[in-house]
Amino acid sequence: MATMQDNQTWSGRFNEPVAELVKRYTASVDFDKRLALFDIQGSLAHAQMLSNCKIIGPQDLDDIRRGLAQIENEIIGGDFEWQLDLEDVHLNIEKRLTALVGDAGKRLHTGRSRNDQVATDIRLYLRHAVDDIVVLLKALQTSLLDLAQHHTRTVMPGFTHLQVAQPVSFAHHLLAYFEMCQRDVERFGDARRRINRLPLGAAALAGTSYPIKREMVAELLGFEAVCQNSLDAVSDRDFAIEFTAAAALVMTHLSRLSEELILWMSPRFGFIDIADRFCTGSSIMPQKKNPDVPELVRGKTGRVNGHLVALLTLMKGQPLAYNKDNQEDKEPLFDTVDTLTQTLRIYADMMRGITVKPEAMRRAALQGYATATDLADYLVKKGLPFRDAHEAVAVAVRYAEQKGCDLAELKLDELQQFSDLIAEDIFGVLTLEGSLAARNHTGGTAPQQVEAAIARARKLIHA
Ligand code: ARG
Repeated sequence: MATMQDNQTWSGRFNEPVAELVKRYTASVDFDKRLALFDIQGSLAHAQMLSNCKIIGPQDLDDIRRGLAQIENEIIGGDFEWQLDLEDVHLNIEKRLTALVGDAGKRLHTGRSRNDQVATDIRLYLRHAVDDIVVLLKALQTSLLDLAQHHTRTVMPGFTHLQVAQPVSFAHHLLAYFEMCQRDVERFGDARRRINRLPLGAAALAGTSYPIKREMVAELLGFEAVCQNSLDAVSDRDFAIEFTAAAALVMTHLSRLSEELILWMSPRFGFIDIADRFCTGSSIMPQKKNPDVPELVRGKTGRVNGHLVALLTLMKGQPLAYNKDNQEDKEPLFDTVDTLTQTLRIYADMMRGITVKPEAMRRAALQGYATATDLADYLVKKGLPFRDAHEAVAVAVRYAEQKGCDLAELKLDELQQFSDLIAEDIFGVLTLEGSLAARNHTGGTAPQQVEAAIARARKLIHA
């Protein structure tokens, strides 16, 4: 009979040691060691509750605290020796604790299982991540507003179908992304409420026979509530899926903005320039300056979206309660957090490094009959039904197109061919500034409205 290695946690039950290959296949310590400080935090709260409920003695609590403090120092100092044989972060810490403080270390796991332990660790980790991400989102929002502030009167073409549609201000365009980020902040706030509930006490799946106080642990860890069903507490990862969905949406928003930055920086548009420190050259074409950062953001969006699908797929076939499948939640989550935080950090800085080229924006806005709707609206205000106005303007646009000029460049008598309602006052309407100023209501592009929107937005960030 094969002898058991004495570091096997389930020792007595097995006749042979785990195969080497299987050990490597099932171990998670290489990545879940990232949860170590949260694991310690959870253990400290659990131990305090055990002592308070007289499930362990006061001396045990002291020993556990002392041991965990040393372990924490070892981990932070990079001196902790992680062992693959000990499978995961939880067993590594527990074994070290026992080596340091003896029996008290062995008592820590009373009334607890790795199942509720790991679920607690991930929740603590994600709560922390959410708080970081919200700060970074707000920093990005601030740099959007700082840029917008200078461009409430910078006119650019607004597009639909990527065809010139109506003039908008560059500030107004940027504020669209502010709104997306604001919903992202709200979404993370919503997800946080559901992340912030305590699984500990569920033990392996059914609860525990010790007289524990779950509410006390929840309070010690700053959780808003305890999970209400033990089976659900250890097995579900919907909070992690929600988190990743929120992250995927941020990336999707930034991917859209990236696509625009890339287009705007192309000489065909020439609307902006991105600071050199965010770009690279070509090894073969000396004239090139490539917008690598926005391109990578667009690319990394696929990666985070992939993590979302991975987590959904991970969950979908699992019967209650805990299954080892769930160990696979960590790498997608960690990578989601890393990708998103790095992206947000770099993006806030990149937006500050954008040079705007108002003349190019203006030229483009003058090219695509962007004020055609304004002409139609003018006719409607003089009594023409909208459909008839639409048709009259379509004919006028065709005429101008054949002449190779903008509507505003036609003479009054030329314009009057399309409707005798047109008078001298039309020329104020056909300018880009006139078009902007006319959209003077909440959510519109009139400079006055956009300035008010920026002021509202600043308040919201500091709320
Ligand atoms: N490493 C495991 C995970 O990440 C911890 C829980 C293991 N529980 C168990 N019964 N095998 O999910």
